[in-house]
Amino acid sequence: MKKMLGLLVLSSLTLLAFESEEVYKNCIMCHGKKADKKAISSSVKLALLSQESLAEKLKNIIDDSSSMSKIYTKMHKTKLKDIQSENGVRKFANYIIGLKE
Ligand code: HEC
Repeated sequence: MKKMLGLLVLSSLTLLAFESEEVYKNCIMCHGKKADKKAISSSVKLALLSQESLAEKLKNIIDDSSSMSKIYTKMHKTKLKDIQSENGVRKFANYIIGLKE
């Protein structure tokens, strides 16, 4: 039973990692492969934010309270549609920050 639980946890972690990679593919052209570019010469460098701060910004985009313009918020929100839970947001933020190494 314990073994099965371990496998379950392992496979869901793999699934999340895969998902982050898939989602981030939509961001590369502006934020860069390592998330260290200023998108359209104006954004923050995502991978240089703290995990907490990046997660907060992502959450704000998803719940429409971002300080970005409406158009940018909407554009980002569409790309982030597969990330729904708070846990998912944290995993995704971790993934992005890990890209800079
Ligand atoms: C078409 C280019 C483009 C794409 C694609 C794009 N972004 Fe951005 N992003 C920007 C720009 C430009 C800004 C800065 C906008 C501003 O501050 O008004 C920004 C800002 C951000 C911010 C900071 C928000 C804040 O509150 O300061 C985050 C986080 C972010 N993007 C994440 C992502 C993620 C994750 C993806 C992929 C799902 C993505 N972006 C895709 C251009 C892009």
